[in-house]
Amino acid sequence: MDKKLAIIILAAGKGVRMKSSLPKVMHKVCGRPMLGYVVDLAFSLNPKRIVAVLGHKHELVRKEVPARVRVAIQKRLSGTADAVKVSLKELKGLSGTVVILYGDVPLLKRETVKGLIKRHLENNADVTLLTADLKKPKGYGRVLRDKYSSVCGIVEEKEADDFDKDIKEINTGIMCFNKKSLESALGKVRADNKKKEYYLTDVIKILYSRGGLIEGMKIEDANEAMGINSRVELAKANLLMQSKINEDFMLKGVSIIDPGSTFINYGAKIGQDSVIYPFTVIESDVKIGKRCSIGPFARLREGAHILDDVTLGNFLEITRAKIGKNTFAKHFCYIADTRVGNSVNIGAGTVTANFDGLNKHNTVIKDKVFIGSDTIMVAPVKVGKGSKTGAGAVVIRDIPDGKTAVGVPARILKKKG
Ligand code: UD1
Ligand code: CA
Repeated sequence: MDKKLAIIILAAGKGVRMKSSLPKVMHKVCGRPMLGYVVDLAFSLNPKRIVAVLGHKHELVRKEVPARVRVAIQKRLSGTADAVKVSLKELKGLSGTVVILYGDVPLLKRETVKGLIKRHLENNADVTLLTADLKKPKGYGRVLRDKYSSVCGIVEEKEADDFDKDIKEINTGIMCFNKKSLESALGKVRADNKKKEYYLTDVIKILYSRGGLIEGMKIEDANEAMGINSRVELAKANLLMQSKINEDFMLKGVSIIDPGSTFINYGAKIGQDSVIYPFTVIESDVKIGKRCSIGPFARLREGAHILDDVTLGNFLEITRAKIGKNTFAKHFCYIADTRVGNSVNIGAGTVTANFDGLNKHNTVIKDKVFIGSDTIMVAPVKVGKGSKTGAGAVVIRDIPDGKTAVGVPARILKKKG
């Protein structure tokens, strides 16, 4: 643990530009609220303390904040400087370095922030900013440099004149402060701008005017520091995060035939030598074993737990279901609230009718079952070990081990099928 390090996560804003009733930081990137990634990043830096500043719909946002994170509530959303001020109560008694992270910057990497902190400490600076060069800097605060090319301020887009707007170096928002310098400058910030907000970025010119040491560190990959303000940016971040998730899987030994059309959420697990075919959606809380073949056009939803050597083919949806080893379901299926055993063959068009309009019910399919094409299993129902169903069977009663059921509603054949 770094005893001299505290982290503040700003996440109180409404996110007006999202045009949403959901607070911005709760919008999902690859199936996870963006704030979740920022909280993970904060923990990965091993600080003495983390404070999250919440405001808009804070009860809802708090669900994404683990208990070990302190929460400060910003009652009036009057700007990023005010948000930081509110959080300082929770940092009493601590001294040293304070890093500011933004809840709407979810792609940032640990190494980058580590590098920022290192640079800050080496120079013994009052503040070290993470900056980026952008071809299209619109929307971001621009970094002002004096004639010695030292950082001397930040001008927000709303306040920027045409000359400022031409500046390509932007403020990512991520800053590393000496705590004392931060506290002393915060008190001097005024809301004398078009938005009538207290801008954290004003702290820079305040420190500069006092002769403070301000460092800027440029990030190599500007994408990492992208702030999400609109749904257009949300989609961009999703794309970037998706390619990272897919690459991580490929590097761990999973084949993805077309990463551009494969959508795997944060938190999904896939074992080595599995192959994922195009247009497959794998949502959060899905586990896939080793040597499986999934897709094309498969959708695995939450609670799909697929054991080793399973083949799930095209056009199927699986949710809250465990699929045993060596099982096949190659074409058109809906399998939900179901436990499927090992070495089961599920024919084309099989459906578990799990919902009766009021409640959901379970289906159990034991080992070595053969489900004929177009079978409907009306849950709750159990299909016994080694049993079979005929094509088009509508199974409304349990099938004993080794028996065959056919017809609508399905009846059990007397002889062993
Ligand atoms: C901010 C920076 C801008 C920078 C950009 C980087 C300021 C004034 N501007 O602009 O220089 O280029 O981020 O992405 O800091 N928040 C609060 N309380 C508030 C207002 C905001 O907690 O009262 C939080 C938001 O939830 C968000 C973060 O602070 O997580 C940034 O706020 P946002 O309104 O998105 O700032 P930008 O306009 O993007
Ligand atoms: Ca922002």
